[in-house]
Amino acid sequence: MYKVLTLNQISLKGLDRLPRDSYEIASEFSSPDAVLLRSHKLKPEDIPASVLGIGRAGAGYNNIPVDYCTEQGIPVFNTPGANANAVKELIVSALTLGSRGILEGIEYVSTLSDMTDGPEMSKLLEKEKKRFKGNELAGKTLGVIGLGAIGSMVADTALSLGMNVAGYDPALSVDAAWRLSSDIKKVDNIASLVSRSDYITLHLPVLDATRNMVNSDLLSNLKEGAILLNFAREEIVDTSAVVTALESGKLAKYIADFPSPELIGVRGAVLTPHIGASTDEAEENCAVMAANQLKDFLENGNIKNS
Ligand code: MLT
Repeated sequence: MYKVLTLNQISLKGLDRLPRDSYEIASEFSSPDAVLLRSHKLKPEDIPASVLGIGRAGAGYNNIPVDYCTEQGIPVFNTPGANANAVKELIVSALTLGSRGILEGIEYVSTLSDMTDGPEMSKLLEKEKKRFKGNELAGKTLGVIGLGAIGSMVADTALSLGMNVAGYDPALSVDAAWRLSSDIKKVDNIASLVSRSDYITLHLPVLDATRNMVNSDLLSNLKEGAILLNFAREEIVDTSAVVTALESGKLAKYIADFPSPELIGVRGAVLTPHIGASTDEAEENCAVMAANQLKDFLENGNIKNS
C-alpha cells in the first residue's frame, strides 16, 4: 500500500487516479511515501524522511524547497500547461479590463441606485459615458515575457484578437521555439521588447535570475501609458518601482493576480487574489496530471513531468 499525504484539497478526479486498493490517501500520516499539494508552503523540516516523491498540482513550484529535495533525491513533479487555459482566459479579460472603462463604469452605475426615472437616467448616461471610453486591443502590441505553456497560449490568443505580438524568452528550448507561431516577433533584448509594447504580460517562474527582474531600470523603457500584467509570480516584480511608474503616469495600469500590500489602493493598480488557475477544469487537470506522475513514479520508477 502506498501512503499519499495531501497537504491541500486535491480534486477528486485526480485522487481517483490512485486506486484505493493500493493507495491510502490522507491529510495526516506519520510516514507517507509521497506528498500531493497545491499552494501549501512546504519547509524542509516538514518533509518526512519516508517521502519518495512530491507532486505539485500547479505550474509554479516556489512553495517547495526544490534544492533540498534534490539533495535528498526526492523528485518534485509539477504540472506545466495543465492550468494554462484558465490563466490565459483570465489574461484576456485583464487585457480588456485594462483598455476599457469597465471597472469605472461599474462603479459609476452603482452610484445610481436611487434613480427611478428611466428617461432621466438615459439622458444622464448618454452624457456621462464619454468618461468611460477606452481603446481596442486590435492593432496594439503585446509584449510577452516568457513563452512557455501559458505565455505561448496568451500570444496565440492575442494574435487572434488582431494584436501584434512580440516575445522574449532567453530560456526557450529549440523544440518550444519551433512550436511558436511565426507571427510572434522574437526579440532578444527585454528592454527593446518593453519599449515597443502597449501591453506587457509576464510568464516567468521565480528564480534567482527572475526575482525583481521588472525593476525601475526595466520600467524606464516603458512606452508612455503602457499596461503591465502579472499573472505569473509577485516576486518577479519590484513593487515599489511599479508604484513609482504608476504615480508618474508612465505606467497606466498594473493588473496583477497578487494583492501586494504596497499596491492596494494605488491608482492604476488592479489586483486579484491569485485566482488565475482557480477554475474547476484547471484544478481537475492539475490534479489528474500530478496524480498520474506520482503513480508512474511510485509504481514504475518513471520521472516524467507529463
Ligand atoms: C500555478 O503555479 O500553477 C498557478 O500560479 C496557480 C497555483 O499557484 O496553483
